[in-house]
Amino acid sequence: MKPKVAWQVGRFDSWAGAQRLLFGRMYEDVEIEHEAFQGKGRVFCIASAGDTAIRLAGEHEVVACDINPVQLAYAERRASGSPAEMGAAERVMSLARTLLPLAGWRVSVLREFLALSNVTEQIFFWRNHLDTWRFRAGFDALMSRPILRVMYAAQFLSFLPPSFGAVLRKRLEKGFARHSNASNPYARALLLGEGCESPPPRAGNIRFVMADAASWLESCPCRCFDAFSLSNILDGAESAYRSRLLRAVRRAGTKEAIVILRSFAEPPEALNGNHADHDRSSLWGIVEVRRTHIL
Ligand SMILES: C[S@@+](CC[C@H](N)C(=O)[O-])C[C@H]1O[C@@H](n2cnc3c(N)ncnc32)[C@H](O)[C@@H]1O
Repeated sequence: MKPKVAWQVGRFDSWAGAQRLLFGRMYEDVEIEHEAFQGKGRVFCIASAGDTAIRLAGEHEVVACDINPVQLAYAERRASGSPAEMGAAERVMSLARTLLPLAGWRVSVLREFLALSNVTEQIFFWRNHLDTWRFRAGFDALMSRPILRVMYAAQFLSFLPPSFGAVLRKRLEKGFARHSNASNPYARALLLGEGCESPPPRAGNIRFVMADAASWLESCPCRCFDAFSLSNILDGAESAYRSRLLRAVRRAGTKEAIVILRSFAEPPEALNGNHADHDRSSLWGIVEVRRTHIL
């Protein structure tokens, strides 16, 4: 059966054409995986731009899988020490950043903000210099469905909460209230597009696999992975695919295996084990860290 996965076409838009490099770096805080997978052995992860695989390969044997061959080849190059490149996500963000002066955001002010390490000072600075009505209006307009629809196919928007701009601003503010800017590479990447250099190469401990995650996990021996980092691959996937992937993860995981799944969606009220607030990228509504047997 062919997987119904929005990411399979390797493009954000709905135009026919070649698969593209979508992510030049990852916006998922790999320290969550690093901590949750302590003492674990083999890890299955989504390759994306390679940051998670490369960081985890220091302590684990890693299989890095991606359905987009262009993205997989890039992750493999980075793991061998090649420099970072810009993907479609970075191009969109870079275009959005050209509008920042309209909101009164100057690079010198952003640098001053990013140099702070005291979260109380950060929130004071955010509220007094950055969270202006012009920023709020502009950001919410950029994150509105009609504008996002110009760049993203419908499947990539279906899971976003209503008033996504306001929701995302709230997540960012929570992040600035919790994580020190000075030591937060994700804040620098989002606000200035900097800090995207490749991590130290670790190709030796990573096996790169071009496949759909569910199909590949179904084909591997039972109980062969101790941990799974699945990015947000279920955002935009059909519900049948969700069930299939989670079944494949349960089968391929050892008894005590851990799975980490992210989503841009807002968390349901009763969600236990949500680590979204711990993720220094501050973008996620859900970062689930679970034992695979309770999936
Ligand atoms: C889900 S996207 C999101 C990017 C991510 N949040 C980040 O910060 O890098 C990450 C990667 O997952 C890959 N992907 C999506 N669905 C997949 C699937 N079913 N199997 C394997 N890879 C998949 C995409 O091709 C993409 O390279």
